[in-house]
Amino acid sequence: MSRSLRGIVREFGPAAQVVGTERYEPTRPGPGQVAVRMVLASINPSDLVTISGAYASRTVLPFVPGFEGVGVVEETGPGVRDLRAGQRVLPLGSAGAWQQTKVTDGRWCLAVRPELTDEQAATAYINPLTALLMTRHHVLDTGAEVVAVNAAASAIGRMLIRMLNRAGIRPIALVRRPHSLARLAGTELTAAVCTADRPAGEALHEITRGRGLDVALDAVGGTEGAELGRALAAGGTLVHYGLLSGQPLPPHLPAERRDVRIVLFRLRDWVHTVQAEAPDRLADALAEVFGLVLDGTAASQVAGVYPLSAVRQALERDAAPGRRGKVLLSLAD
Ligand SMILES: NC(=O)c1ccc[n+]([C@@H]2O[C@H](COP(=O)([O-])OP(=O)(O)OC[C@H]3O[C@@H](n4cnc5c(N)ncnc54)[C@H](OP(=O)(O)O)[C@@H]3O)[C@@H](O)[C@H]2O)c1
Repeated sequence: MSRSLRGIVREFGPAAQVVGTERYEPTRPGPGQVAVRMVLASINPSDLVTISGAYASRTVLPFVPGFEGVGVVEETGPGVRDLRAGQRVLPLGSAGAWQQTKVTDGRWCLAVRPELTDEQAATAYINPLTALLMTRHHVLDTGAEVVAVNAAASAIGRMLIRMLNRAGIRPIALVRRPHSLARLAGTELTAAVCTADRPAGEALHEITRGRGLDVALDAVGGTEGAELGRALAAGGTLVHYGLLSGQPLPPHLPAERRDVRIVLFRLRDWVHTVQAEAPDRLADALAEVFGLVLDGTAASQVAGVYPLSAVRQALERDAAPGRRGKVLLSLAD
């Protein structure tokens, strides 16, 4: 194998300042491993949070970032029977998508449906699967009817709304800026609220006529997440899955609302648990997600594709206000 290029983080900090690139010699795949020639990888908030050092206790420096991307199997190691060279896969379960050759455990490489484009495949895992699982387990399985989604114009926010719409639910959407409201066009909503105009709690009380929410899907945390928690009906559930505000939920919230459930959802917990206990469930869930990506329900818009050598420009674009869609890294030479 020729020398490959990879993104590398040697110190924690803002991604656009600390991610560099370097040449390296990929190792040959050992027993059970495969070498995947990466094609496209996405930049997600989970990458930026990890690079920032928020999970410093479980992140060893230096490391290659990237939790999501698509590649092609280049070589299989001894004992790998279910994969063959040339097969397109999502190498999941670890960071390292921002490199040209990822050598990884073959059990974590899931085949991609041929109908998906590389752009669709590179964005078919983190947000689509999270949206599917949260919708299924916390909304559909509980019979919830009155549902709110914040950061509603984010990639996952819009997927959640489309999945809820498919189930006949018209959620209440919250965005932080007026211009984001236009990005909700084409979805069916009970109401759309801009939290720059009025506090979320006040708006939710009025829209639900004091009934409260059955489920709130919170990607923001901090004050806004707490307002969603307070806006729940008794017996309701706050599903907290993101920290876009940079602030955790207030620690006193559970004591304030003993009559609701506050659930922390992390895709990696679900994925690692099912992979250890029942790996077919992960493959089945991904197969379902691929269908939802193809029919548009779990589709992601792409804001731009940058070569890995321009990773800092890609990260600056990702951080720029008003970005519409995901920024992807091309790993092709
Ligand atoms: N727990 C999990 O397993 C899991 C899995 C997937 C995603 N997530 C989380 O879901 C969140 C969204 O991910 P994504 O990929 O959809 O992100 P994204 O498409 O990059 O969108 C983020 C958008 O959210 C809006 N936003 C940013 N800060 C905000 C704030 N303080 N309040 C309200 N809106 C804000 C911004 O839109 P405007 O600029 O238009 O306001 C921004 O464009 C992230 O926190 C991510 O970590 C968690």
